[in-house]
Amino acid sequence: MSFAGTVIDWQRERGRHDLPWQGSRDPYRVWLSEIMLQQTQVATVIPYYDRFLSRFPTLHALARASQEEVMPYWAGLGYYARARNLHRCARVIVDDWHGAFPKNADDIAKLPGIGPSTANAIAAFCYNARQPILDGNVKRVFCRYYGIEGETQKKATEAVLWERAWQHLEAVPDDIDMAAYTQGLMDLGATLCTRSKPACHRCPLAGHCVAKREGRQAQLPTPRQR
Ligand code: ADE
Repeated sequence: MSFAGTVIDWQRERGRHDLPWQGSRDPYRVWLSEIMLQQTQVATVIPYYDRFLSRFPTLHALARASQEEVMPYWAGLGYYARARNLHRCARVIVDDWHGAFPKNADDIAKLPGIGPSTANAIAAFCYNARQPILDGNVKRVFCRYYGIEGETQKKATEAVLWERAWQHLEAVPDDIDMAAYTQGLMDLGATLCTRSKPACHRCPLAGHCVAKREGRQAQLPTPRQR
């Protein structure tokens, strides 16, 4: 079984299926969820996500609002640059893209507040694009699985991790379910391959995991030097 196949099967059986942004391929909803989830836990995000969508149900509604109208809906979530970029981004899409979210991951990554991993997540969830993600949780999964050393925010380590991320999407079937794969990686990182006390006994990747084999789960990823 391929790496991607293992993750997809696990996601379908054991992953999360009840998150409010799941099941939607509306790029506005997916984008909003990914931005909120960048630095904030799922349980915290859910009520904010629901309130935000009730007030700004569409990209156009958000673009029409003023920044002053938007900020209260972010109050308490922190990292307020996210909300300012979100609002700017809505206006850029209305002005430069005729109000239609771009479909290409490279175009998405050029929008305000959207980095390469978030762009790829949106493209994978909404358009089934074969684009890998690499957020903090996924970096931890890969560092352990391959025994990759080095601080994960360093350019050299990131390059190795992206290489692996792309490799998993080579030689997979054309009809691969990218939403299940992407969500599966996120779910593995968030629910099993946790920073402390990972649940290796429940992990579908444990059989080939370097950190598990060598008992180095606590040493990988390499902690940040201070
Ligand atoms: N963290 C980032 N994106 C996520 C998603 N789509 N579901 C759950 N957690 C996430």
